[in-house]
Amino acid sequence: MTYAEPIPAPTNAFVPNRYGAMCTEVYDLDKPPGSLPDVDFYVQRLAGLDGPILEAGCGTGRLLIPLLEAGFEVEGFDRSGDMLASCARHCAGRGLSPALRQMSFQDFAYDHDFAAILVPAGTFTLLDDFAEALAVLKRFFDHLRPGGRLMIDLLPLGYLVNERPDIRTWTTPEGDVLRIEGRAVEIDLLRQRRVTHDRYERWRNGRLVESELEVMAFRIWGLKEFELALAAAGFGEISIGADHQPGRRPGRSSRILNFEARRPVQGRG
Ligand SMILES: C[S@@+](CC[C@H](N)C(=O)[O-])C[C@H]1O[C@@H](n2cnc3c(N)ncnc32)[C@H](O)[C@@H]1O
Repeated sequence: MTYAEPIPAPTNAFVPNRYGAMCTEVYDLDKPPGSLPDVDFYVQRLAGLDGPILEAGCGTGRLLIPLLEAGFEVEGFDRSGDMLASCARHCAGRGLSPALRQMSFQDFAYDHDFAAILVPAGTFTLLDDFAEALAVLKRFFDHLRPGGRLMIDLLPLGYLVNERPDIRTWTTPEGDVLRIEGRAVEIDLLRQRRVTHDRYERWRNGRLVESELEVMAFRIWGLKEFELALAAAGFGEISIGADHQPGRRPGRSSRILNFEARRPVQGRG
């Protein structure tokens, strides 16, 4: 059997999960460094850890910065130049200079290993292809030292079928109104994949002066499915919590699932 040559993507095709300039500006207004309840959870969970921590998809430094300020040795990478630039600015303003690199989950590489790798805020669901996500779990495994910990927070399966539009506004320090209107445009139950169109707008004196479209593609995991995926990548000691509450088990109303696993001391070769 022969296969047709792949059709080249048109040059103006939308790149999913881009996290461009307006998305970054809104992220910073909505979730500045130190915001969200996961910060205390990570500080407590990582207490006493000996060795460097990697935040994969560190974005604006929302979590990375408070971890640095709590005395942890943290570095980060992200694919978005806008998110990383914001992170670097926030760090410089606080006298911090962590190693930040522009890389993607699919091809990140370090010449040293880590005592822990963190993927908070549902970011892992932005890997919208099953095989690619499994390969990334293996890449995490290979970058952890024996006994190293992987901590990943996932949106629960219900998010796959959420059709409620996301409409919110923020006011910038300059007085512009930033508005997002996000809508699900595709829900594929077979591939557990969801695509949304997030339209960002900047309004000034009642006029639309700028807009940006972010196409967001997610793959949402079942709880047991992700546990099996972690095991398939070689991880052991897998535990699952919920909502960053110590000891809380996942339940019907959980908003975020907190997976933790270890690279065994005697690991996959
Ligand atoms: C929801 S934000 C989370 C940022 C930060 N970790 C936090 O907790 O606030 C997701 C981040 O993942 C990054 N990202 C998305 N896809 C990526 C990929 N394939 N490789 C690396 N980073 C990616 C985005 O640029 C964005 O900064």
